[in-house]
Amino acid sequence: MSAKIPVCILGATGTVGQKFVRLLADHPWFEVAAVAASSASAGRRYGDVVRWREQVELPRAVADLVIRECTPPLPGAIAFSALDAEAAGPIEQALARAGAFVVTNTRTHRMDADVPLLIPEANGDHLVLIDRQRTARGWSGAILANPNCSTAALTLGLAPLHQAFGIEKIFVSTMQAVSGAGYPGVPSLDVLGNVIPHIGGEEEKMERESQKILGALGADGVKPAAFAVSAHTNRVAVVDGHLMTVSVGFKRRVSVDEAVSALREFRGSPCVAGLPSSPNPPVEVDLRADRPQPRLDLERGRGMAVTVGRVRPCPILDLRMVILGHNTIRGAAGQAVQIAELLVADGRLGPRP
Ligand SMILES: NC(=O)c1ccc[n+]([C@@H]2O[C@H](COP(=O)([O-])OP(=O)(O)OC[C@H]3O[C@@H](n4cnc5c(N)ncnc54)[C@H](OP(=O)(O)O)[C@@H]3O)[C@@H](O)[C@H]2O)c1
Repeated sequence: MSAKIPVCILGATGTVGQKFVRLLADHPWFEVAAVAASSASAGRRYGDVVRWREQVELPRAVADLVIRECTPPLPGAIAFSALDAEAAGPIEQALARAGAFVVTNTRTHRMDADVPLLIPEANGDHLVLIDRQRTARGWSGAILANPNCSTAALTLGLAPLHQAFGIEKIFVSTMQAVSGAGYPGVPSLDVLGNVIPHIGGEEEKMERESQKILGALGADGVKPAAFAVSAHTNRVAVVDGHLMTVSVGFKRRVSVDEAVSALREFRGSPCVAGLPSSPNPPVEVDLRADRPQPRLDLERGRGMAVTVGRVRPCPILDLRMVILGHNTIRGAAGQAVQIAELLVADGRLGPRP
């Protein structure tokens, strides 16, 4: 067995960065070799700077690392980016140019035609876009993107139905957790006892990104899926977990039983199913009348499974349902780690540890 692959975390002090630290603490293939953040944090010991919000102890080896500036060279073949989107673009490009595989959670490069926007179980085949990217941009590394957090839950939950029946229309209304806004995020006096019916840019992201993820890979890149998406996004006083109510129209009539079977049987490719972070199954179906709920169902598949419930006929479109996903695990750090595992399993970083 060879040694673990060194990785670095950009934006390591933030909400998603901390989740990376936690998930990578005992990862079988990866070990954290460096943490990086803004120049306000750089040069100081991670354990002294971070406002640690995870419910496990901060790993000692990471606590003792000195935070670096987000400039190359950084140790590690893989850079996980949890950077503020305003700062991410030039940093991620510089690292990819310098040879790193940058797996990013920021919005900056998601819609670039040569950047794969990945949910491994749904579109792991889009990974090959990095070959085109590296050639076109002359980079020895590459950028791979993780979708927006609500898009990740919606699209993984609907992927089995799109693959089986073909989706024509999606109407989705979200109830999104405050941790989706980072730390310290939404002021408590704005959100407690309240619902905020606007999350900047979120509806557009859900509409565009879901079409790219479920689009077809061809010789010219990804042809976006042709379905229409109407998204309404809302911030609610929940700590973690994005819940959404969804109505779906299909190319043909689809019964509740057919939909439930397709959801239950969905697995993704054997390569993806065998990755350390892949849940089995990736989509859980819970047909109890009042499920899924963030407090009760968020940790399924160690936060990597999405839960679909309340599948029933819709008098306007064909079927309606509820989908729940963990915004900082499936919607951010957990899936980014799974994407990096896919890179390794695909043989792009040499032998697997
Ligand atoms: N929260 C979620 O559920 C979620 C889900 C999916 C995607 N995302 C995306 O993931 C990214 C991180 O989100 P977050 O919620 O973790 O945000 P956050 O808590 O605000 O953390 C932002 C991180 O970026 C660093 N940073 C800020 N400005 C920088 C600069 N100029 N140069 C280098 N580093 C800089 C911060 O370092 P300092 O501490 O030094 O300031 C911090 O580590 C965002 O792009 C967000 O849209 C978030």
